[in-house]
Amino acid sequence: MKIIYKDEYVKLIQGDCIKVMDIMIDKKYMVDCSIVDIPYGNVSKNGEERAKYTGQLRKINKEEADIVTFDEIEFSKRLAQVTKGSIYIFCGIDQIAKIYNYFKDNLKKDWMARLCTWHKTNPSPSNGQHMYLSASEFIIFAKRRNTIFNGHCEHNVFNFPCGRSKLHPTEKPQQLLEYLIKMSSNEGDEIFDCCFGSGSTALASKNLGRKFLGVELQEKYCEVAKQRLQNIKITIN
Ligand SMILES: C[S@@+](CC[C@H](N)C(=O)[O-])C[C@H]1O[C@@H](n2cnc3c(N)ncnc32)[C@H](O)[C@@H]1O
Repeated sequence: MKIIYKDEYVKLIQGDCIKVMDIMIDKKYMVDCSIVDIPYGNVSKNGEERAKYTGQLRKINKEEADIVTFDEIEFSKRLAQVTKGSIYIFCGIDQIAKIYNYFKDNLKKDWMARLCTWHKTNPSPSNGQHMYLSASEFIIFAKRRNTIFNGHCEHNVFNFPCGRSKLHPTEKPQQLLEYLIKMSSNEGDEIFDCCFGSGSTALASKNLGRKFLGVELQEKYCEVAKQRLQNIKITIN
């Protein structure tokens, strides 16, 4: 575990999020809001093979970014312990019930939970002639009772296009992350993303004057995030 980047707003750690959260719990260190895009596990396909048999236009290969390296309940338990306000967990279809029910049932005394949808307004046209386009991803929103919420009467469907930057196989759009940050934090608050990938949440937080603490397992993604934060233009093939 090591600190790979630090400035006045942002601190990035390369390491395992479970170990980092255990240290935070030991030290009683809490953040204001957590936004984490965890590995979905089920969407990873062998791109070459799948493309060959289904004739799809695009390879779906999420590399290491999609490998689940922790138990989702152990993860959620720790995330709740280190978060003072709201939590957003982007997750795959098979993970929704497990995580949602954990907040709804086990933590219901202190937390409220709602399933939200990111509607991708520019979905990939793959297989569109055979079935509906895949234009949705799911986010579990959990909020400690009586904590900040700036999205009065907003709907739980968020309409934002996906980016096409290819910095990371499962990169999330900065616009969407900025929206979530604004809904659940104030300037100067600290945002936490313990699976930060290419650092999209770090950029969004810094852009909005929030502090940011992040953890990522893979060295290559840490490097991408570091370079994005240092404002170096990067191109990945
Ligand atoms: C879905 S991706 C996040 C992508 C990110 N939202 C972005 O915009 O670039 C999930 C990330 O979690 C990382 N990861 C997987 N297991 C981890 C662990 N135990 N601790 C920290 N990071 C982990 C993966 O390497 C991957 O980059």
